Amino acid sequence: MIDLQDAGKSYRFGERVLPVLKGLSLHIGAGEFIAIMGPSGSGKSTLLNVIGCLDSIDEGRYTLEGVAIEAASEDELAAIRNARLGFIFQSFNLIPRINALRNVELPMIYSRVAPAERLRRAHAALKNVGLEDRAAHSPAKLSGGQQQRVAIARALINNPDIIIADEPTGSLDSVSGHDIMRLFSNLHQQGKTIVMVTHEKEIAAYARRVIHLRDGLIERDESSGAAVTPGILPPATLVHPCTSQERSQ
Ligand SMILES: Nc1ncnc2c1ncn2[C@@H]1O[C@H](COP(=O)(O)OP(=O)(O)O)[C@@H](O)[C@H]1O
Ligand SMILES: [Mg+2]
Repeated sequence: MIDLQDAGKSYRFGERVLPVLKGLSLHIGAGEFIAIMGPSGSGKSTLLNVIGCLDSIDEGRYTLEGVAIEAASEDELAAIRNARLGFIFQSFNLIPRINALRNVELPMIYSRVAPAERLRRAHAALKNVGLEDRAAHSPAKLSGGQQQRVAIARALINNPDIIIADEPTGSLDSVSGHDIMRLFSNLHQQGKTIVMVTHEKEIAAYARRVIHLRDGLIERDESSGAAVTPGILPPATLVHPCTSQERSQ
C-alpha cells in the first residue's frame, strides 16, 4: 500500500544542502497502525509529509496504492490527498472563523458533494466523535481535545483509507491524548491504515508497529502483537456516515 524505496530528500539553503531522508526504504501494508518515533530533527515530519504526498522525495521511489507518486501530476496528487488520505496535525489546523460543522464540511466542498449531503454527513461525523452538540461552536470555544476530535471528523469525512497524523496528541493533556488514541484504535479496528508520529512512548504503545528514525534512516522497526485495548468508545462508534447509510440501503 505504502512503499518507499531508497527515499532521499534534502533541503537546500543556497549553496548548503541538508540531507533529511538518506535512502530510506519502508513498506506499510493496508490496515497497519504505525507509530514513527525518533529525536527532534530526525526527519519524522518530513517522512510523514512524503507519505502523505504533501512533500516529495528527490531520490528513490514512492508508490502509494499502486500509483507512482513521483510521476503523478499536481491534480492527481490533490485528488489522492483529498480522497485517500486524512490528515491530523498537532495544532489541529481548524479554520478559526467558521464553526465546527463548517470545518468538517470543508473537504466535501473541495470534492463537490451536494450541500444537503454535506450537512448530513458533517453532522453524522461530529456525532461519531461525540460532538454533535458542539456543531455551532467556533474552534476557540472548544477545548484542545474537542478541537482535535473535530479535526478527526474532518479527516474522515471523505472516508480515506489512510490516516496521517503528526503528533496528534502533542498539544493535549494526557487524558485527552488517550481519548484521541482510543478513537485511533477504533479506526484501526475498522480497517484504516494509520501512520502517526509521536515522541511519547505511551502514545506509541497504541500502535502495532513502531519505527524509530535517527538521522534520516530507520534505526529500529518493532512489531508488537499486543496493542493497548481500546476502552470507553465501543467499536460501533466512528463508522463512516456513508458506510452505515449505504449498508442499510
Ligand atoms: N521546509 C524545510 N526547509 C528547510 N529545512 C527543513 C524544512 N523542514 C524540515 N527541515 C529540517 O529538516 C530536518 C528534519 O526535520 P523534521 O522532518 O521536521 O524532523 P522531526 O519531525 O523529526 O523533528 C531538521 O533539521 C529541520 O530543520
Ligand atoms: Mg516533526
